[in-house]
Amino acid sequence: MNSRISIKNIVREFDDHRVLNGIGIQIEEGEIFGLLGPSGAGKTTLIKILTGQLPQTEGEAKLLGTDTRKLTDREYSRIGMMLDNTGVYERLSCYDNLLLFARIYGLSVEKPKEALKRVGLWETKNRPVQKLSKGMKQRLVLARAMMNEPEILFLDEPTSGLDPANAREIHKLIQKQKEKGTTVFLTTHNMEEAEKLCDHIALLFEGSIVEYGNPKEICKRYNHQNKICLSLKDGRQILLENNCEGAKRVYDCLREGVVEAIHSTEPNLETVFMELTGRSFE
Ligand SMILES: Nc1ncnc2c1ncn2[C@@H]1O[C@H](COP(=O)(O)OP(=O)(O)OP(=O)(O)O)[C@@H](O)[C@H]1O
Ligand SMILES: [Mg+2]
Repeated sequence: MNSRISIKNIVREFDDHRVLNGIGIQIEEGEIFGLLGPSGAGKTTLIKILTGQLPQTEGEAKLLGTDTRKLTDREYSRIGMMLDNTGVYERLSCYDNLLLFARIYGLSVEKPKEALKRVGLWETKNRPVQKLSKGMKQRLVLARAMMNEPEILFLDEPTSGLDPANAREIHKLIQKQKEKGTTVFLTTHNMEEAEKLCDHIALLFEGSIVEYGNPKEICKRYNHQNKICLSLKDGRQILLENNCEGAKRVYDCLREGVVEAIHSTEPNLETVFMELTGRSFE
């Protein structure tokens, strides 16, 4: 299978500062890939390289099989982007913003309507962008990025600054896009978002990818304790071995009716990141 995105040994320097230090990733058709890393790690820089907005210092990046330094309208018509900088016109209405983009990209005039309905903004189609809430504006920007039915969607922190309800709306839209077969490349600071949405993630730290894989599998790999934690009704917690002996204690406690909750000691991505880098994510 041809990778949708293929990155080999990408280095990017700004003056003397090496931001990306030999990055390699393959992203396959229809997967949601999440690039995670603290502020300043180089996430936006990598998206800019992949979308032909910035050249790398060294290495090779291919998008849809084409060198990202040589992208043409043919490739651009097959991708969608939602970057930090939202790039919508504040004084224009939702509808006019999308119509303008539809014209630029030579899309059917029906597309803005479809796109606004898809993100739940059809009722507010005539409202100027400057009067939208933050969540509505994010949805509008996403609608614009998806309007050309892209094969690859780049989303740079799509839920940054949104409350959980609005973030969930965006998650649903991203998942629907994946169901249609779109490949999604997203960046996020939000570990829960990554665990929930992504098929694969890469943790970017100090210019390198320090971990890569399926989020749940990564967490399992770092489950060094491999224990079962029982929280009892009297407030005590007991750690049991994950074996027959442990199972017997769980059974006994359950029979006695003293168990409040049972957990495994599997870490979350946040804990894995701390273990790898010695610092917290935010
Ligand atoms: N055009 C530029 N000129 C000089 N330095 C730059 C430029 N663009 C980015 N940098 C530097 O590269 C580093 C990575 O920036 P980048 O925006 O890629 O980080 P990020 O991971 O997206 O961070 P955030 O999570 O805050 O968005 C930063 O130290 C930044 O200052
Ligand atoms: Mg960024």
